[in-house]
Amino acid sequence: VEQTLILVKPDGVARGLSGEILRRIEAKGYSVTGLRMFTPDRELLAAHYAEHEGKPFYEPLIEFMSSGPVVAIRAEGHRVIEGFRSLAGTTDPTGAAPGTIRGDLGRDWGLKVQQNLVHGSDSTESAERELSLWFA
Ligand code: GTP
Ligand code: MG
Repeated sequence: VEQTLILVKPDGVARGLSGEILRRIEAKGYSVTGLRMFTPDRELLAAHYAEHEGKPFYEPLIEFMSSGPVVAIRAEGHRVIEGFRSLAGTTDPTGAAPGTIRGDLGRDWGLKVQQNLVHGSDSTESAERELSLWFA
């Protein structure tokens, strides 16, 4: 069965939305099979976000993601990777469809990095890679 890595980012944890986000994952019918809460260090984040190295939002992204605790979730279910991306909504929360996590709960704060509440793996390869980093 397919697995994915979901992160409640520091903005989601700080706003007290971890429970609401877990609720939406479980309400959709996916199983939560792993749960960890901690503040990730730069080394983990550099490995996680290697594909974005050199982009203008890279440094602010690492800064933001290491600014406080995140909730790392291993979720399982048929087509959960695509399914959670769909629950999350588009990267920019202002344009994200109502009904999605980012559309209902997120907004653009005008900062250097999109504080968009959640991360979800985007392919089976990234899911496998990311799960081995966050659930080593
Ligand atoms: P994740 O699920 O977090 O990976 O989001 P995503 O797949 O929708 O976005 P992507 O992997 O392209 O980028 C990772 C994260 O970098 C995003 O979630 C944002 O927090 C941030 N980010 C991506 N693109 C931009 C951008 O163009 N501008 C800004 N300010 N931040 C961005
Ligand atoms: Mg991504």
